[in-house]
Amino acid sequence: MTNRRNFVKAAAATAAPLTTSTATLASMPLFLSACVTTRDSSGPINAYPKMASANALGFLGHLENGTESFYEPLVEGKLPAQLSGTFYRNGPAMFTRQNERKGAIADGDGMIRMYRFNGGKVSYRSRFVQTDKFKEEQAAGKFIYGTWTSRTPPGGKRLQGSPNQAGVTTVLRNGKLYAHDEVNPPWVLDPNTLESIATDNLGIEDPSRLKAHFRVDSKTDEWILLDSVFSPTAPSHSAYIVSPDGKRTTKRTIPVGRNVPLTYMHDFFVSGSSVMLFLHPAYPDYGKQRQGSPFADTLTWKANESTKLAIMSRAGEGEPIIAETDSRWMWHAVNAFDRGNEVIADYVGYEKPDHFIEIDGKEPAWYAFMKGRTGSFNYPGKLRRLIINKNTKSVREEILDDGNNEFPVVDKRVHCHEHRDMYYIQAPKGALWWSKVVRFDSKTGASEGYDFGPGYYLNEPQFAADMSKPVNLNGSDSGWLLVPVFELAKGMSSLAIFRANALSDGPIASVRLKTHDSFAFHGSWHAA
Ligand SMILES: [Fe+2]
Repeated sequence: MTNRRNFVKAAAATAAPLTTSTATLASMPLFLSACVTTRDSSGPINAYPKMASANALGFLGHLENGTESFYEPLVEGKLPAQLSGTFYRNGPAMFTRQNERKGAIADGDGMIRMYRFNGGKVSYRSRFVQTDKFKEEQAAGKFIYGTWTSRTPPGGKRLQGSPNQAGVTTVLRNGKLYAHDEVNPPWVLDPNTLESIATDNLGIEDPSRLKAHFRVDSKTDEWILLDSVFSPTAPSHSAYIVSPDGKRTTKRTIPVGRNVPLTYMHDFFVSGSSVMLFLHPAYPDYGKQRQGSPFADTLTWKANESTKLAIMSRAGEGEPIIAETDSRWMWHAVNAFDRGNEVIADYVGYEKPDHFIEIDGKEPAWYAFMKGRTGSFNYPGKLRRLIINKNTKSVREEILDDGNNEFPVVDKRVHCHEHRDMYYIQAPKGALWWSKVVRFDSKTGASEGYDFGPGYYLNEPQFAADMSKPVNLNGSDSGWLLVPVFELAKGMSSLAIFRANALSDGPIASVRLKTHDSFAFHGSWHAA
């Protein structure tokens, strides 16, 4: 078995030699002091020198376990004084204990990362969510439980379902910081210290199946969540609409039926009027799960089936509308909005999820990478728009960007309502991991971006609005894009800051962490 640390060092060592300017930079002490330093210039900086190539498995360096910390990082360039607020991120940060390794890259105990910006300065804090599972395994010094892509270790304890790892999404609501698992009730943390407090049922009778993804309506401030009930007698999908003050939760249910399959879905759409489920043909086998297989390992992709779109009225009016589109896999919706009787739904869709589900006997890349192999990933995540007519139930799909895209976001001030600019990360053609950040103007179809090049691995960006300016759908966004970067050659991570409407100019600042930060998923921005 590959020794992880040796592998990462080897991967970095086989990367191309640094350019002259890179070598100069690399010879400088990374952390001159505990204080933030700035330069006078607010223009683009050369903090990410180009590398000629990188090892194909360099991403493995991004899958080291995370560390807890609290300090003021060094800043290269100048942070905008108006950039004021907190950027929370969540994602797995415990991939390996002793000789046990998680099955796929999207699995592990959640860690919250907190960047707090104030007047040109920034602090950084990271802490694991203290779930029951994490505390028990931490005390034992080994994995005890199987999780959604990982078998129960030898001598471990087998559960029905996956234990809560609270490691996918995060959001601040009414003074509580929430950390959500893929399927479990969210944990509540102190938004300043990141101390774990307890789980929260959000007013839901049985929150044990709540999914990680949710939407917050930018106009009503309602919080919309989703679950799926795999009961043999009454299977269903339900949306929960939590009032802004958190005191009232309304349930909208759609029973499983002939055109409403009981598939596994990760994300969904919410417009001003509707909740829309994207029921792609990925079927779990609960018999296999009861016999001990991890949930994700039991998924089957039925490529000859269409994707069903189930539309429920948020207000509870009328019967659900069922439409269908071609077979597509979706990890992430971008946003949705109403246009007359149409729902406009933007998302990243794959023709087949061979990077995650075994298709034609080929090992999916998300599993293979954990074992030091590249695996299968033949279908790029294209940025797509669905236009669904609720009267005729017709669906039209447009491909907006046929690159290999993921982790799309928009300004949170337009969530569930019309948007224009979209941001996401993109992998080079034929590659799996993302090195470019892109802004796509959905009104003109134009896009621009910045490619860090080989040896840099990006995570989900986050848009931080310039709060002195209102949303402007007649032009490009005003604000900044915060882009997490792992740098293979240094084995270190940073946060690159861009002007959101000028990504191609390059970053204007870089927040340099003192350590590597492991691959993470989703974040949220909360302006001060
Ligand atoms: Fe996700």
